[in-house]
Amino acid sequence: MENIRGMKRTHRCAELTAADKGKEVVLMGWVQRRRDLGALIFVTLRDRSGIIQVVFNSETNPELHEKALQLRSEYVIAVRGILQLRSPEAVNKNMPTGDIEVIAAELRILSKSETPPFHIEEDTSANEAIRLKYRYLDLRRPNLQRILMLRHRIAKIARDYYDENGFIEIETPVLGRSTPEGARDYLVPSRVHPGKFYALPQSPQLFKQLLMVSGFDRYMQITKCFRDEDLRADRQPEFTQIDLEMSFVDVDDVISVNEGFIHRMFKEILGIDIPVPFKRLTFKEAMTRYGSDKPDTRFGLELVDVSDLVRTSGFKVFSDAVANGGSVRAINAKGAGSFSRKEIDALGEVVKTYRAKGLAWMVIEEDGVKSPIAKFLSGEEINSIVERLGGHTGDLLLFVADKDEIVFDALGHLRLALGKKLNLINNDVYDVLWVTDFPLLEWDEEENRWVAKHHPFTSPMDEDIEYLETNPGRVRAKAYDIVINGYEVGGGSIRIHSQELQRKLFNVIGFTNEQAKERFGFLLEAFKYGTPPHGGLAFGLDRLTMLLAKTDNIKDVIAFPKVQNASDLMTNAPDYVDDRQLEELKIKTVEKGE
Ligand code: AMO
Ligand code: AMP
Repeated sequence: MENIRGMKRTHRCAELTAADKGKEVVLMGWVQRRRDLGALIFVTLRDRSGIIQVVFNSETNPELHEKALQLRSEYVIAVRGILQLRSPEAVNKNMPTGDIEVIAAELRILSKSETPPFHIEEDTSANEAIRLKYRYLDLRRPNLQRILMLRHRIAKIARDYYDENGFIEIETPVLGRSTPEGARDYLVPSRVHPGKFYALPQSPQLFKQLLMVSGFDRYMQITKCFRDEDLRADRQPEFTQIDLEMSFVDVDDVISVNEGFIHRMFKEILGIDIPVPFKRLTFKEAMTRYGSDKPDTRFGLELVDVSDLVRTSGFKVFSDAVANGGSVRAINAKGAGSFSRKEIDALGEVVKTYRAKGLAWMVIEEDGVKSPIAKFLSGEEINSIVERLGGHTGDLLLFVADKDEIVFDALGHLRLALGKKLNLINNDVYDVLWVTDFPLLEWDEEENRWVAKHHPFTSPMDEDIEYLETNPGRVRAKAYDIVINGYEVGGGSIRIHSQELQRKLFNVIGFTNEQAKERFGFLLEAFKYGTPPHGGLAFGLDRLTMLLAKTDNIKDVIAFPKVQNASDLMTNAPDYVDDRQLEELKIKTVEKGE
């Protein structure tokens, strides 16, 4: 193999333009492709900037041409040559450097490559498991390189922006104790304290609050968080937050500083001006209109409550739902009256995955409605429903009757499915909004108690504190989520800074003083020594990157991601460990490796 002695790279491949005509350049990179055309060999050379064409000519340099015949895909080479313009008929308009090429004068083969397990190209059809096993090759693909560079820029803009606004980046521990975000912990056994475990942070929540007690005033950190949850297209077991906390603030202060960041990010990266202040929806409005606390409001198809119209209906499915304290809500899928039975049944399957028992429907025709439930409803009921939903000939009305929770979930997801199916979503638009006024608590059926919806340090709204003990369900929180195109990209809250209120809340969620002390004693202790009012927020950096990169797969924005079952196909983590290591940790396992 040759080396680069005496050769210094002058440019990256795609940094060159026609303006560099006549320059001697030295490029280094990977062979994308070699094409032999008689006397000429064309090599496409790739580095992280992109590709450029290199030409070897047997008439002017037979020796070099001979050497170039050895080149194969993914060989690493260094090339010295003169940059020249291509003749007009040879210009490739699909390639940023398509009007230029390098006429090679020297070639060094720095490293050979075996035939890679898949061809490295922008849009590969190689299966994901193979790509993840050879992730370092997958990462050579220009789209993944672009995304990781984009991610770098987002992180850079965040650091710059928050620095300019007085935030200080402070690192918090990874080996700690359980944090209150509500997912399952990843545990790390302690060798020094057999039987004891550290928990990896689900977020730096408690530490950032302590930093406020310490007087840092404004903290930020770009940091890994770990949650042992079921993975989804937008969820990884380890992910990254842009995490921040501020003292002496209320909801609007936190919101406005973070709007500034999101605005700057869109402006600098995509050249898009998101109007500030962003839209705001209360949790209640988001649920009743869109059936979701992270609504995609780029399209309509809003939910409509028809409970009052069917309360006394002969259709038991509807009247019973209302009588049992639930509701009947509907979506008017405008113009979808032409859907086939098969298509409507498929929509029924969508709502069933969200626990709805069925999907009732009506097609509005010239001379009345066609519907399997028409026979159970009076003409008056049908008319009032059609009118409430603004129905016209050719529309399809879709109904779910159940407990509110199920109705919202089912119709919220049905709405998204319809938005896609009817092509109502403009992917060039970024829809940014805050969802505010979340309920502080939610009833946990399994545990038979109230639990904090966000985390137990979230402050109730001042005007709702009086209901904390008498009517916990109606207490709203000073909590807010930021939602972009239907993704929850961040969330946070103003925290409780009064010990008395904190104690009250622990009582409501069924923590005794002892339990609270055991889990969060250090925080409660700290609060005794002068606590500023404080609040903050954390963005999911992975999700922000997904949105700006326009991908719906979180693995695309993480260099070395995990798959569905939380394993890494490249390193094979997690794996069995040596018996010696287990002995040292005083751990006996039930499952055993060979
Ligand atoms: P929260 O739990 O809402 O809040 O997390 C903040 C943001 O982190 C992102 N996120 C994830 N991204 C990828 N994979 C995951 N498994 C995952 N889980 C969360 C989301 C989410 O909005 N300590 C609080 C913040 C605060 O109150 O200041 C917290 O962690 O984009
Ligand atoms: P059934 O009388 O059970 O055959 O239901 C008649 C119609 O009502 C069918 O189209 C069902 O899909 C629909 N349906 C059943 N349960 C519900 C429900 N909870 N909400 C809305 N529609 C339902």
